[in-house]
Amino acid sequence: MTESIRRIGLSLGADLCWPVYYEDIVTELDLALDLGGEKIRFDIERVTIEPFDLTQPVKYDLVMDRLSPWYPTTREWIKKAVVMDGLYTLNNPFTFQSMQKHTSYVAMMRLGLPVPKTWMLPPRDYEEGPDLGITLESYAQMFDLRDIGEKVGYPAFLKPYDGGAWVGVSRIDSYEDLQAAYDSSGTRVMHLQEAVEPFDLFVRALGVGPQVNSMRYDPGAPIHDRYKVEFDFLDADEWQRMEDVALIINGFFGWDFNSCEALRRDGILHPIDFANANPDSQVTSLHYHIPWLVKALIRWSLFCAATKRPMRMATDWEPYFEIADSGGSDGERIKDMAAIARAGFAHLEFASFCDTYLDDLDEVTWTYFGEDRAKAAVKHKVGAIFPAHEVDRFTDHFWGLLEFWRATERDRLDALV
Ligand SMILES: Nc1ncnc2c1ncn2[C@@H]1O[C@H](COP(=O)(O)OP(=O)(O)O)[C@@H](O)[C@H]1O
Ligand SMILES: [Mg+2]
Repeated sequence: MTESIRRIGLSLGADLCWPVYYEDIVTELDLALDLGGEKIRFDIERVTIEPFDLTQPVKYDLVMDRLSPWYPTTREWIKKAVVMDGLYTLNNPFTFQSMQKHTSYVAMMRLGLPVPKTWMLPPRDYEEGPDLGITLESYAQMFDLRDIGEKVGYPAFLKPYDGGAWVGVSRIDSYEDLQAAYDSSGTRVMHLQEAVEPFDLFVRALGVGPQVNSMRYDPGAPIHDRYKVEFDFLDADEWQRMEDVALIINGFFGWDFNSCEALRRDGILHPIDFANANPDSQVTSLHYHIPWLVKALIRWSLFCAATKRPMRMATDWEPYFEIADSGGSDGERIKDMAAIARAGFAHLEFASFCDTYLDDLDEVTWTYFGEDRAKAAVKHKVGAIFPAHEVDRFTDHFWGLLEFWRATERDRLDALV
């Protein structure tokens, strides 16, 4: 049998913990898959940044990329590699570059999801440019901010149309707040969005390929304590709905790795933020939940690399629009659209790949998160973001949550036997 190596590149910035877990666990699995008449092994490597000839082939089959959203050299290297060398990458740089939060709002409104009422505002200030004066004098309409505030209603949120990391987000309770926040928004194009309040639940769902994990989230807590360790915050129907909605968004845009935030008001889950090209993946925020993420990334990346999953550069929206326009109840349409998304993520082939080749993954991961090297990676990350005098305390805190994960995971695995 011929041996074939699949090369996986990790394109990283400040991520210090999950790549170590990923590399250690994949090494521990020591895989040699009998697939398609070949013996497939994996080679994992950190991608470096360097000048490149546009015709120079790329050695990777798949790149897990955390840089493209903000580092243009890497983004353009990856785009070249997708177009010229058949690279598969998480996430698709083409759709993430062109479709930001705003596009995700309008697309999901078009599909009938309950996105809160949202207005777009032209920017308060402009960078000078040669054609700017005549454009604005000819066409920019004066508008009454008070009127728009009343149409959206208070409370509301003023936030950048392409936002991320809570930058420039203001809660607005009155016209005076709106005026002040808009006046200080500078050159950013902003959304004014109806607040989903009072909400009784904030959920963040992480999606990796066809896999989704929903977590309760508390946006008011300190960063290390926002993801909650709770298990019964959604009933079975809501859990399914959250998974379906996250998959619809990710399938529609071709995003392999994304997070979706939703707020529940009067029993309805309203998606508010779901174009996150670099979902939070740090042990210092995900703690108990990080083993789920690491396993999900391992499964999906190995599946895509091993089976040479083709990268889709373009998206195919028509099937979703057809369902959106087909009548039927909201529930039926969501189920049908989620089925398209699952098929797009090859969920059946993926499940069978995991059953056949990755049956050790749960146990290997369980053992790994009890080892000193896993704890050392936690400490390394904590050391990078906490003051020196807090490093030991917070390392113990996150490690304690991982020990708790091991206890609950042990129960889960024993129940499966
Ligand atoms: N429509 C809304 N209703 C209630 N809270 C909101 C709304 N929009 C934003 N927020 C609050 O502001 C935070 C940041 O807004 P979000 O849209 O998630 O921006 P970012 O992309 O910067 O994370 C949210 O996590 C939430 O706490
Ligand atoms: Mg957010």
